Amino acid sequence: MKIAFFSSRPYMQQAFLEANAAFDFDLTYFDARLEPHTASLGQGFDAVCAFVNDKLNAEVISILARGGVRVIALRCAGYNNVDLEAARLAGMTIVRVPAYSPEAVAEHTVGLMLTLNRHIHKAYQRTRDANFSLDGLVGFNMHGKTAGIIGAGKIGLATLRILHGLGMKLLVHDPVERPEALALGARYVSLEQLFREADVISLHCPLLQDDYHLLNRSTFAQMKDGVMIINTSRGGLVNARDAIEAINNGKVGALGLDVYEEEETLFFADKSNEIVRDDTFHLLSAYPNVILTGHQAFLTREALAAIAHTTLDNLQQLAKGQDCTNKINQ
Ligand code: NAI
Repeated sequence: MKIAFFSSRPYMQQAFLEANAAFDFDLTYFDARLEPHTASLGQGFDAVCAFVNDKLNAEVISILARGGVRVIALRCAGYNNVDLEAARLAGMTIVRVPAYSPEAVAEHTVGLMLTLNRHIHKAYQRTRDANFSLDGLVGFNMHGKTAGIIGAGKIGLATLRILHGLGMKLLVHDPVERPEALALGARYVSLEQLFREADVISLHCPLLQDDYHLLNRSTFAQMKDGVMIINTSRGGLVNARDAIEAINNGKVGALGLDVYEEEETLFFADKSNEIVRDDTFHLLSAYPNVILTGHQAFLTREALAAIAHTTLDNLQQLAKGQDCTNKINQ
């Protein structure tokens, strides 16, 4: 099977190189993001392997289908970037990696919380400049504070386990109640109650039509003054302009984003020598109480190895004509 990788990066290629020793597929790597202008690169391949910011809209899918591609292998969990109906009509099979390392994302999430709370990003800069003043670095004990987790699936649960270890009170909003969360002492509550009571709110639900801009001007208004917000899920869950307003009026005291709604053309590339034409991004990155990371919550050796193995295993099952368990129902 010939597989074309889009949005390829060295750390990812290395993981696939190692995993492919057990599969022996024919792998070709393209740095380019998959979009209408680059989709013809897929011509002559059996499958394309795509990541979170590759654009699999109807136009791209039609170009790929004309070029002979029959399978879209997502090397990620989310599939909000794929037009499922267009893929179904084109007769394409889509497989994904539903779980590779929930702990990797959860650990990054809590890393953002602790960094923001204890101002570690500011202290790092100060001590490099021999500025040992502690003014403005006062944090709060996580112990005894209330965490609100929106979406307690695999990553939300892994986050709950860590926060339980920190001694936080745990609130969860999720339509599905999980015994594992209850065993940690978490209480399932309405979104309104979670907004009212949480000191720290972390998003771990998928981006679906009905939760687009879940955090917006009206939901920020329901939260505690100075609340900390962390989003390591998908950028579209937070209205970034409204978040800026909520920072300006003191409603949001700290914001940690690993995902950003306009990340598609920014993240995973070095833009340091370019003019980034995105005022919202510039505003957000200028605040001392905002930390942005470039969709790296998943980025551990263990997660990369698991992504590579599962992706190639998915393709092997399809190549053998088996029904792949990680196939997305279209
Ligand atoms: P999962 O499918 O195991 O859990 C998602 C949970 O969200 C489920 O329990 C579901 O019932 C719940 N949910 C769905 N809609 C909801 C809503 N409107 N309100 C509250 N809960 C809702 O997914 P998993 O593996 O935990 O991943 C969560 C998200 O994390 C993914 O959708 C993806 O967007 C993101 N992600 C981010 C990564 C990163 O590197 N930043 C890496 C991997 C995933």
